[in-house]
Amino acid sequence: MIDTHCHLYDEAFDSDRAEAVARAIAAGVDTMLLPAIDSHSHAQQELLATAFPNHFHQMMGLHPTSVDDNYESELEIVHKKLFGDPGRYVAIGEIGLDLYWDKSHLDQQLDALRRQIRWARELNLPVCLHVRKAHNELFGLLRDLNFNTYRGVMHCFGGSLQEAHHAIEMGFHIGIGGVVTFKNATLAEVASAVPLDRILLETDAPYLAPVPHRGQRNESAYLPLVAEKIAVLRGIDVDEVACATTLAAQRLFSL
Ligand code: NI
Repeated sequence: MIDTHCHLYDEAFDSDRAEAVARAIAAGVDTMLLPAIDSHSHAQQELLATAFPNHFHQMMGLHPTSVDDNYESELEIVHKKLFGDPGRYVAIGEIGLDLYWDKSHLDQQLDALRRQIRWARELNLPVCLHVRKAHNELFGLLRDLNFNTYRGVMHCFGGSLQEAHHAIEMGFHIGIGGVVTFKNATLAEVASAVPLDRILLETDAPYLAPVPHRGQRNESAYLPLVAEKIAVLRGIDVDEVACATTLAAQRLFSL
């Protein structure tokens, strides 16, 4: 299985990072994708990816909650890394819109997202989108960009089934993680109804640990719990979920 979204370089793993990687591999999660946040964590991300080159792939991008008055210089760093060594990254992410924590930088978030989606097009890379309390704004931006189709994933999908179908029609995959194991009727509906080959498994570790670890630190070794829940919801074998989602991730990120 592939954990398409985890932050194992986060300081939450400072005391046992190598062990967390070993636990993931032992649990059948031998490939993990590392989305970037901002320049404060680039060094740690790079360090982890180069320490385990057979198990990690990196993304590069500016996270929407890191978009503040300083975002132009952060974007410059991202641009330099992406265009300086494009083969190094499997996607531009995580990028997007987040109006949950802070609504005051919406214009800057929109500008940063628009520019990074255009870079993805220039480099022929998929995007990893983080969208929180901003689905209307996101769909508006994508409509205005007016590309025929998009390549990417809506990570930690939190929209309605209708929004999921809309995203899939535009070309996106749906990232599903530990939240699917919580009592959440909307996400259960999405996880059972969308085409299996459009679902990507993810943990978003260290956040959003699945039941029975809810509230604790999340890690990639818990990814099978997500696969199992999706299998139960769809009434199919967990192997089928693992195979289809792994293939989808390999295709999308050219792994
Ligand atoms: Ni993330």
